Amino acid sequence: MEYLKPREATRNDADGDSLFHNVPRAPDIPVYATTVAYNKDPSPNKLHLGIGVYRTEHVVYLPEPTYGNHPNLLSAAGLSLKTYRYYDPKTHGLDFQGLLEDLGTASTGAIVLFQASGHNPTGVDPTRQQWEQIRQLVRLRGLLPFFDCAYQGLVSGSLDADAQSIRMFVCDSGECLVAQSYSKTMGLYGERIGSLSIVCKTADVARRVESHLKLVIRPFYSNPPIHGAAIVTAILKDRDLYNEWTTELKAMSDRLAKVRQQLYSALCSRGTPGDWSHIIRQVGMYTFTGLTEEQIDFLTKEYHIYMSSDGRINIGGLSSKAVPYLADAIHNVVTRTI
Ligand SMILES: Cc1ncc(COP(=O)(O)O)c(C=O)c1O
Repeated sequence: MEYLKPREATRNDADGDSLFHNVPRAPDIPVYATTVAYNKDPSPNKLHLGIGVYRTEHVVYLPEPTYGNHPNLLSAAGLSLKTYRYYDPKTHGLDFQGLLEDLGTASTGAIVLFQASGHNPTGVDPTRQQWEQIRQLVRLRGLLPFFDCAYQGLVSGSLDADAQSIRMFVCDSGECLVAQSYSKTMGLYGERIGSLSIVCKTADVARRVESHLKLVIRPFYSNPPIHGAAIVTAILKDRDLYNEWTTELKAMSDRLAKVRQQLYSALCSRGTPGDWSHIIRQVGMYTFTGLTEEQIDFLTKEYHIYMSSDGRINIGGLSSKAVPYLADAIHNVVTRTI
């Protein structure tokens, strides 16, 4: 093949010593070029009718806001994304009415992504009663619930309590998908270990769904890495290791709650303007502070405090010792700008 004769061809200096320097640029594939143009177009009304892929009317619904990688993952899977109202910046809590209204208009069969507990980035979870109302609405409208469970045990310290939302959807004999991550709960981030469970109505449906999973897995990663799975299995199968793990989870969630309380009390004792009670109402690893981008910039420049531009703080990254420093900084930035 002509392309595989690099040494005979004339070199272009800009190619360095690439063995592929004489590979000519292939012509654009028109349908891809259309897609590139479509992806670049910022218009909210854009429509791509060029690709020959059948799409149903369904979209997957994501909470607004959600873990930043959710849109990436789901759009890479070819799904169209929509959001449902979740966080209310005025109350720093759940926009429950907005959530019900948005899911109430979702079309039958649409996938709805829920975070099982310890919602990232807001730290806002529905109450048990609210989950029950959500469950009824989801079943009434025939939506497909997809749970992302990344913080089980880190919210309340109890694996059972933090899986309550999922259990409610499993107990009603309906169907759902559950993606479980062990990155945070077992400190195995680098091992890429998790699981996907799909609860189906009948064994026959389950077998057919499983056959599709295999079709997806084979060209995707073929076989899963074994090391992380071996660690998780060892912990789950050994009573002593399991007890040690759950005791550690409880200690971690207690520490998160303690640091939340300390930060809240420190702001109250400084008389920092505003209501900061959301810090102790929100749960899990994150607090959505409500600080603006401008305020965060100031904290970074003047106090070397780094956080995401949406105002999310990882409480797990805050020590009791650092609380007064953070509280002073927040007090300063809030009083400067009012
Ligand atoms: C809600 C949520 N899901 C999933 C993940 C990532 O899970 P994994 O490390 O298993 O990819 C995160 C954070 O890293 C998260 O916040």
